[in-house]
Amino acid sequence: MRVVVLNGVNLDVIGRRDPEVYGGLNIRQLESKIFDWAIELELNVKCRQTNSEGEYVDWCHEALDWADGVIVNPGAWTHYSYAIRDAVELFDAPVVEVHLSNIDQREEWRRKSVISDSDRETRDRQGPDGYREALAYLAGNE
Ligand code: DQA
Repeated sequence: MRVVVLNGVNLDVIGRRDPEVYGGLNIRQLESKIFDWAIELELNVKCRQTNSEGEYVDWCHEALDWADGVIVNPGAWTHYSYAIRDAVELFDAPVVEVHLSNIDQREEWRRKSVISDSDRETRDRQGPDGYREALAYLAGNE
C-alpha cells in the first residue's frame, strides 16, 4: 500500500518552534519515525514538505494516481486554504488530517479546519504519534 505524507508550511522548522506545542522533533526526526512505522506496517511511504501552497496542490494532484492513502498536515493553510481543500477533495483514496498540536485547544482562529471540517475523528490525531495512528488507520490496523 502506497501512502503519501504531505506536510505544509513552516513544518520544515518544527524543531525551532515551541517544543511545548510542537513536541521538539525536527522534520527529519519526524520523517524518520514515520519511515520506521511504515516498515512495521509494511507500507510504502513517501514524505514531502513544502512552504509553497501551489506546490502542495501540485503534489496532491500527483498523488491522485499514486497514493492508496494520504496523510495531510497543511500547517496554517489548514485554517484558510480552500485551494488545498479542493485538491484534497479530489482524492478517492482515504485522507487523514493530522496535527502536531491540539488545534481545538489553541487560539480561536486555529480551531477551524477548512480541509476536513466534516471529519472530527481525523482532527483528534495529534502529535508525532498522530502520524503513527494515521498510518495504522490507513493500513487497516486500527
Ligand atoms: C499545525 C497547526 C497549525 O495551526 C499551525 O499553523 C502549524 C502546525 C500543527 O501541526 O499543529 O503550522 O498544523
